[in-house]
Amino acid sequence: MLKTLSAATLFMAVTLMAQAQSSPVSFDPAAKVFRLDGGGVSYVFGVNPRGELQQLYWGGRLTATDGFAQAAPLPEWASFDSSYSNTPQEYVGWGAGLFVEPALKVSFADGNRDLVLHYHSYTASPNGFDVVLKDISREIYVTLHYTIDPLTGILARAATIQNRETQPVTVEQAAAAAWALPPGHYTLNYLTGRWAGEWNLTQEAISPGARVIESRRGSTSHQANPWFAIAAGPPVQVSEDHGEVWFGALGWSGSWRITVEQDQLDEVRVTGGFNPFDFGYVLHPGESLETPVFYGGYSASGLGGASRLLHRYELHRILPHAPATSAPKPRPVIYNSWEATEFNVNEAGQMALAEKAAALGIDRFVMDDGWFGQRKDDHAGLGDWYVNPEKFPHGLKPLIDKVHALGMDFGLWVEPEMVNPDSDLYRKHPDWVLNFPGRPRSEGRNQLVLNLARPEVRDYVFGFLDKLLGDNDIAFLKWDYNRNWSEPGWDQLPVAEQKRVHVEFTRNLYGILAELRLKHPTVELESCSGGGGRVDLGILHYVDEVWPSDNTDPFDRLTQQDGFTYAYTPQIMMAWVTDSPHWLNRRATSLSYRMLSSMQGSLGIGANIAAWSPEEFALAKRLIGDYRQMQPTIVQGDLYRLISPRNDSEFSATQTVNAEKTQSVVFAFIHFTQQGRLFPRLKLKGLDPAAEYALSPIEGKARAGTPSVASGAWWMNHGFDMDDGFRGDFQSAAFRLDKK
Ligand code: GLA
Repeated sequence: MLKTLSAATLFMAVTLMAQAQSSPVSFDPAAKVFRLDGGGVSYVFGVNPRGELQQLYWGGRLTATDGFAQAAPLPEWASFDSSYSNTPQEYVGWGAGLFVEPALKVSFADGNRDLVLHYHSYTASPNGFDVVLKDISREIYVTLHYTIDPLTGILARAATIQNRETQPVTVEQAAAAAWALPPGHYTLNYLTGRWAGEWNLTQEAISPGARVIESRRGSTSHQANPWFAIAAGPPVQVSEDHGEVWFGALGWSGSWRITVEQDQLDEVRVTGGFNPFDFGYVLHPGESLETPVFYGGYSASGLGGASRLLHRYELHRILPHAPATSAPKPRPVIYNSWEATEFNVNEAGQMALAEKAAALGIDRFVMDDGWFGQRKDDHAGLGDWYVNPEKFPHGLKPLIDKVHALGMDFGLWVEPEMVNPDSDLYRKHPDWVLNFPGRPRSEGRNQLVLNLARPEVRDYVFGFLDKLLGDNDIAFLKWDYNRNWSEPGWDQLPVAEQKRVHVEFTRNLYGILAELRLKHPTVELESCSGGGGRVDLGILHYVDEVWPSDNTDPFDRLTQQDGFTYAYTPQIMMAWVTDSPHWLNRRATSLSYRMLSSMQGSLGIGANIAAWSPEEFALAKRLIGDYRQMQPTIVQGDLYRLISPRNDSEFSATQTVNAEKTQSVVFAFIHFTQQGRLFPRLKLKGLDPAAEYALSPIEGKARAGTPSVASGAWWMNHGFDMDDGFRGDFQSAAFRLDKK
């Protein structure tokens, strides 16, 4: 039964209605319709006569006067498909004959597993609603949190599940939100990969059944990333610039699942949250479980429009930045010696590299793995976070002082959640790792995972990091995580509660990161997990950048960076220039090509610069200088993927335009060509058509006769050709345009 609206609720409703023209949220008490407006988007749902919360609309922005009638449930389809199952509910409980993916599935202490959630009440905030649902008879309350971003129209949705019964209830499946699309033909886009091969954009027609994108690994994973984009039309029609796209991303760094489902009536739903695999969260009376946040957005401007909205949202709403600023500052240009020295770090060697790095114009010198414990290779040391006395007899101070004297700040690699069995920590606390007593402890890279869900482990990890940052002048930590879970036992808890590890581990990770940032507000952090294994909108609240892949081959990176930018802003996309031939695939490329590939993200140098020739040194130094002039445009501007490197393309090109449309940067790459094909004409995007822009080459040349100054309309409609000499395999060019 629908609850009668309280006087206070009614007052709020009337107030909100009065503000409907300007307010991003409104509730129509007569039709029981909730509406959120932001950016170019409207999102509407309502309470149907049965009391279910039903989605009504998600798409392009409607006018304030457009009204909605009360939600009407979809009818049953013969006796086999109930109206309950057919109706697109905002957050549906498993019960009453539900055959589609449930948002919530619980078991009660008496064996009842039927859960039917009806509308109970709501409260409004300036940019959203909290809508409370309750089971039809049991004291299970679910508060659905909604906010809409006025800038991008991106919605943030999450749920809090509360047990007010007198007995415990086990939550077996809990989504953050479900999104519904009208029946139609759609293409699903999602990102898949593996270690050193992350960020492949997969596109497929949505067809009857469910496509499950997930991680069962305890963390986000290289294999699939918690992002999706659903474009109207079949795959051949999906465009960078045109067409409707509904997209979303989960903010969770533990095991997650997104189910994209086309039901028997061709309706499409996307349900995502905690991965129900091996899930079971016991809620004692009075306890609550909060789900991760599922973000969702809409663009009428193709996949390019969708990613530009998401980038803006990440920059302005997700990533940490100083309170007085609207977006984080561009990343320092870093040097990291991992590929040059691997574990062989020592005071003299790092100092010598630091001198070279400073001469290149580097801002931040980062020492990677190998500096601590008895770490000579990957067999020992993780867990023992003291400075190795043979490699650094005087501690880190002399190196840090030297780095500072050279005008750079200092960063350090850590892998806090891991332990090698060959370590003092493991010898002292063998029970601290994830394990089932009496069962094998499977190793990955000779290491085990500490059970961060345990309070004493959490305290140990926070404690050593706090001390490390307190004792040393460290500006940056590269936080690594080099394996996935196995045997995820937590035997300190009663048997029924041990699966809480799936929630508490990640919550404690976030808690440590938040507390470190609070206590050491100037320290910046990178999320790395053997490359791009932990990149998601959950961790991005706490870190400033990510390491997209251990694969630093500049050609492979073109496709990886293309894929990455569908979901994530180039601001966080660290991109190192490393040595050639590349260690992974033996491909040889020029330094110019390697630099330009990396300059499309947040630039770093990861090569053995001690071995560079004076010419290489001079080229890199010049390009780092050029990069600085263009970096804000490249990493925070609007990104247009002009020519995709996917599908064995012979060419690729990207363009970014800053918010003021005063600067634009173009990168062009030849991968390989056959039969003398020349680079296609580049028609630019996103410029002010009436403004005049001057074209300046950074590397390469435009064809003779290209005007040095022309209107935005010229560059966008006529475009320009590359110089005829732009031929061969693995060639690159870059240009900038500045408004006159
Ligand atoms: C992981 C990271 C690398 C490097 C090594 C160090 O593989 O992704 O960048 O830090 O660990 O062991």
